[in-house]
Amino acid sequence: MRQLLIALILASSAAFAQDGIPSLRKQGTATQLIVEGRPFLILGGELHNSSSSSLEYMRPIWPRMTAMNFNTVLAAVSWELIEPEEGKFDFRLVDGLIEDARRHNLRLVFLWFGSWKNGMSSYIPAWVKRDYKRFPRVRLGNGQTVEVLSTLAPANWEADARAFAALMRHIRAVDGRDHTVVMMQVQNEVGVLGDSRDRNEAANKAFSQPIPAPLSGFLSKNRDRLVPELRKLLDSAAGRGAGSWEQVFGATPAGDEAFMAWHYAAYVDKVAAAGKAEYPLPMFVNAWLSNPEGKPGDWPSGGPLPHVMDLWQAGAPHIDFLAPDIYQPNFAEWCRRYTRQGNPLFIPEMRRGEDGARNIFYALGQHDAIGTSPFAVDSIPDADTAPLGKSYAILAQLAPVILERQGKGAMTGFLLDKEHPSVKATLGGYELEINLDNIFGFKAEIGYGLIAATGNDEFVGAGSGFGVAFSPKSPGPARVGLAAVDEGVYSNGKWIPGRRLNGDETDQGKRWRLSPRQLSISRCTVYRYE
Ligand code: DGJ
Repeated sequence: MRQLLIALILASSAAFAQDGIPSLRKQGTATQLIVEGRPFLILGGELHNSSSSSLEYMRPIWPRMTAMNFNTVLAAVSWELIEPEEGKFDFRLVDGLIEDARRHNLRLVFLWFGSWKNGMSSYIPAWVKRDYKRFPRVRLGNGQTVEVLSTLAPANWEADARAFAALMRHIRAVDGRDHTVVMMQVQNEVGVLGDSRDRNEAANKAFSQPIPAPLSGFLSKNRDRLVPELRKLLDSAAGRGAGSWEQVFGATPAGDEAFMAWHYAAYVDKVAAAGKAEYPLPMFVNAWLSNPEGKPGDWPSGGPLPHVMDLWQAGAPHIDFLAPDIYQPNFAEWCRRYTRQGNPLFIPEMRRGEDGARNIFYALGQHDAIGTSPFAVDSIPDADTAPLGKSYAILAQLAPVILERQGKGAMTGFLLDKEHPSVKATLGGYELEINLDNIFGFKAEIGYGLIAATGNDEFVGAGSGFGVAFSPKSPGPARVGLAAVDEGVYSNGKWIPGRRLNGDETDQGKRWRLSPRQLSISRCTVYRYE
């Protein structure tokens, strides 16, 4: 009887653990990360590459992460450290990171530095490094072999997939109940550097053959639905859906990049599939972004860039989404390009200073991002006063408001400056004209924030340096007034009003304003009249 009871308890707890595995779920047009059965907004930060290789080194860092109001840390786990000898795994570091994150009430996203990190293969174990015959490398156009595992060698992905599967099996064993680890990044910024494609023997052979049947099938079925950049590439080539890579994609560096994208996607997919068979956490890849002046090979050629996103989506079905590492100044444009083709936005790396702290509002408010994670957060000097910590303090309060509205057309996010001083958004039955706003002679040069429609004629906004004028978008009285504006805070999801804002603070009732002097939350109700 007792044995039966124990068996029943074990069976039901296994079922519970299975059910509670972090996963992705659609809500309207958004994709949400679900943790413990509820949507979870990642307010994260990524550590320097080497920090998580030492638990001792990490000890003083954890409290600084919580001081900046993070709920998640992105930390590297490397192949060289978990499999120092072939087939002999050491997970002490992984266990320690999980325990220490838990102790600080933080979740983890692990970055699998396996075959590639920033295009290079510097994190492969020494036994892989030394055995370059068994584990072939990329050859560049100048005939030189580089320290980059070739995608065209089954031995390479098989070894990586074995290690990754062992890692996922282990994470399930130690974390299948608590779910401290919520997602996995598979590899880091993959692609060939220094040339547009791999030119070793196997790569040249594959390149001269017809494109794989699954790819030609995909292209002929989806030609009209591809991102315009890829469609243009196909059109500028011979315009044929089948044939060799050069015939389909053209004899150009961009054509080579398509070849590499397909092969990186196929390789990474096999690694992800092996990992998911053990423990199916959401998995993504990240990209080193391209620049208009350069060519493939200046950035890692074949990485998950938006102009080849269809190739990645078709070639790597076990990868849940493609993520941009946004260090470039045109943040909004990269967000836009990465939210096409149903790809949800998650930003595993971005700037950690004042601009990064502002951009987060845009990513969450405008693009329903799963979360954000500035890079190198362990070197932010003063955790208590860091702009990033201030943004996350506000966004942690607003997380339930944001999560409830994702995918429902009930939120907007914006970045304003002298070149872009004004935007319009339609929300909650009104058109909102959002302007860079000066107050009391304080000249705001930058404004940013997000606004959510929270009820009948009610809006909640957070940010700094903007003013909002309303006009109706439905039949009825033509004019809109401010019924009440309150600043305030959310405490455990409950709104606690502070000052009632009126007079100068609302331009005598004409505009809802969030002062450029501070980062704040404010609630506004409107009414209509004529
Ligand atoms: C992008 C990489 O993905 C990171 O691991 C790190 O190397 C940064 N670049 C450095 O800026």
